[in-house]
Amino acid sequence: MTEKIKVALIGFGGMGHFHASCYKNQKNAELVALCDIDKSQFEKLEAEINVGSSGKADLSKVGKYLSYEELIQKADFDMLDICLPCHLHAEYAIRALKDGYHVLCEKPMARTPALADRMIRAARENNRLLMIAQCLRFGPAFNFLKDAYNTKKYGSLLRLDMRRNGSLPTQKWYRDPARSGGALLDLHLHDTDFINYMLGVPDAVITFGVVRDTGGIDDLITNYIYKNGPRVSSEGSWCRTSWYCSIVAVFRKATVELLGNTVKVARPDQPVEEIKLEKDTDYYYNEIAYFADCIRKNKLPEQCLPESTRDSIRIAAAEERSARAGGRKVFLKK
Ligand SMILES: NC(=O)c1ccc[n+]([C@@H]2O[C@H](COP(=O)([O-])OP(=O)(O)OC[C@H]3O[C@@H](n4cnc5c(N)ncnc54)[C@H](O)[C@@H]3O)[C@@H](O)[C@H]2O)c1
Repeated sequence: MTEKIKVALIGFGGMGHFHASCYKNQKNAELVALCDIDKSQFEKLEAEINVGSSGKADLSKVGKYLSYEELIQKADFDMLDICLPCHLHAEYAIRALKDGYHVLCEKPMARTPALADRMIRAARENNRLLMIAQCLRFGPAFNFLKDAYNTKKYGSLLRLDMRRNGSLPTQKWYRDPARSGGALLDLHLHDTDFINYMLGVPDAVITFGVVRDTGGIDDLITNYIYKNGPRVSSEGSWCRTSWYCSIVAVFRKATVELLGNTVKVARPDQPVEEIKLEKDTDYYYNEIAYFADCIRKNKLPEQCLPESTRDSIRIAAAEERSARAGGRKVFLKK
C-alpha cells in the first residue's frame, strides 16, 4: 500500500478532537471523515487535552456525518478511529471489523474481558487489524523505563510505584460506572496496562478502593503481586482537586523518576542526572503513526497487541473484584 491510510474518526468529543489534531502531520495517515451523533461537536474544531499536542488542525474539508450508518454509506476509508465512550467500544469495533475496516480504539479496550475477547475474535475472523490506543506504550519516557528494565541498565527492578490522580470528568457517562468503569477502569487502567506491558500479568492483585455517590471505584490503590518479582503498586483517583501523576522505579543501582518527557536518575552519592528525551513527541501522534504503519505493512501491532490489552482489562476486573471484597487477594491465570 503506497497511499496514505484513509481514516474516519467516530466520537468527536474531548478525545476525538485531540486525535483529530494528531492527523495533521501524519506521514502515513489522513483524516477523511468525522462522525458524531451530536452535531454541536462539529462547531468546536479545536481542542487540547492531556499530554502534548500536534496543534490546531484544519478540519473544514473533512466529511462530517451524524451516524455510523451514514459514515460507512458515504465515506471512503480504511481505518476507523474509535473515540466513543467505553461502553460503546466493543459494539462499534466489532461492527467496523465485520464491515472490513481496520480499527484503532481508545482505551479502555472494553467494559469487560468477555467483550474484549469478542473484539479479538472479530479482528481474526475478518482478517483486519485491531489496536487499542494505550498511549503510555508510545511515550518515550515510558519506553525508557521499559528499556532500563529489560536491559538491567540500573540493575534489577526492586520497586515500581505509579500514581495518576485527578478530579471526576464532567461528561455524564464517566459518572456511570456501568458505562465508564469508574476511575479504576477509565483512568487507573493506563498504569495497569503499563505494568502489564512491562512486567506481564501479575500472579495476584490486592486492591483497596472507595466508592462514592457514582457507585464506581473512583479512588484506589493496588498491589500487584509478582512471585520473586518487584514490589509494584499503583494509585488512581478521580477524587482529587488537581491533576497529579508520578512514576518512581527503584532499581538496585539507581532510582528512576518520570515527569513528562524528562527522566531523572538518582544514584547513591551522585548528583541527580536529568535525561531529556525526544522533544515534541506526543503519545497519541505516535500511536496513530505506529498503527498506520502496521496497516500499510500488513503486520500485527506487536507493541500493543489486542491480546495484551485484553489482559489489562482482565487485571482491572480482578482489581475491581478485590476492591469490592474489601481488599481480598485475587489470583490471575497467566
Ligand atoms: N488516552 C487518553 O489519555 C484518554 C483521555 C481522555 C479520554 N480517553 C478515552 O476516550 C474515549 C472518549 O472519551 P471523551 O472524553 O472524548 O468522551 P466525550 O464524551 O467527550 O466524547 C464522546 C463523543 O462520542 C459521541 N457519541 C456517543 N455515542 C455515539 C455514537 N453512537 N455514534 C457517534 N458518536 C457518539 C458523543 O456525542 C461525544 O461527542 C473514552 O474511552 C475515554 O476513556 C482517553
